[in-house]
Amino acid sequence: MMVTVAKTAGFCFGVRRAVEMAEQACTQYGSIWALGDIIHNTHEVERLEALGVHKAEHVDDVPDNVPVLIRAHGVPESVMLRLKEKGCTPVDATCPFVGKIHHIVREESQNGRHIIIIGSRNHPEVVGIQGWCGASDVFETPEELEKALSGDTEKARQLREKPVGIVAQTTINRKIFDICSKFIKKECTNAKIFDTICNATDERQKEARLLAGKSDIMIVIGDRKSSNTKRLYEISTSLCDRVLYIEDASGLTGQEVRGMERPFIGITAGASTPAWIIKEVRNMMSDETRIETGSEDFAAMLEE
Ligand code: F3S
Repeated sequence: MMVTVAKTAGFCFGVRRAVEMAEQACTQYGSIWALGDIIHNTHEVERLEALGVHKAEHVDDVPDNVPVLIRAHGVPESVMLRLKEKGCTPVDATCPFVGKIHHIVREESQNGRHIIIIGSRNHPEVVGIQGWCGASDVFETPEELEKALSGDTEKARQLREKPVGIVAQTTINRKIFDICSKFIKKECTNAKIFDTICNATDERQKEARLLAGKSDIMIVIGDRKSSNTKRLYEISTSLCDRVLYIEDASGLTGQEVRGMERPFIGITAGASTPAWIIKEVRNMMSDETRIETGSEDFAAMLEE
């Protein structure tokens, strides 16, 4: 049997950068505050807590005059202003790709465009993006968008006829954004479309598609709260009959390949899954099934 670990599995650039900035800030200040979990991974959050990262859910729960880490998802402009008022020192780990979206929506709003965000309404990244917009709407699915644009209401007419600017949550499923863009091009007379899906997301989804298409079992590793891991799971289930969504090695029973002859096993992981968890899963498969590893690059990644 053969195990292949996706080359793109695990931390993306933005998450790695945020974790490193948190570690450095703990060394520099002794301890810091963060708004929400720095990344969507319980194990990694616990490790950072032990280093000195305190968590607050709301900006007003943060004490005055302390360093505050802004996570990779970014925050609304109002939160940055509130931190300033409280005399806090922002350690801004907003992923530069998310920061670029903030810049786009602010500029396009100033140019009079109504902003349409394609993404998950309650995801912190989308909440953050909306906080840099003027007038805006969020649509989660092509169906939702179609319904909003097709009606005979004042709002629907406005969206069709007024200048609109469209951006995507960085981790959205590429297919969803493409369908929405096509529909907007057809319906809206004055639309400017910005493809803001992150390359790391695109690459990860493409590789998951390829791997799932040729695997008998696909293992997707990541936290249940991680939206980019959920996307990988959705993509995998559309192409592979047996997909396991696990948070870490404890999600494996050791019975996964029982009764299967020479199965091909694919492993991928979300952008907030640390390499040590991927390694544990791979090792557990190996211990219990004597699997040969199929990915040469994985060995190098494990050394990091
Ligand atoms: Fe940034 Fe892309 Fe990761 S937007 S946080 S590098 S998934």
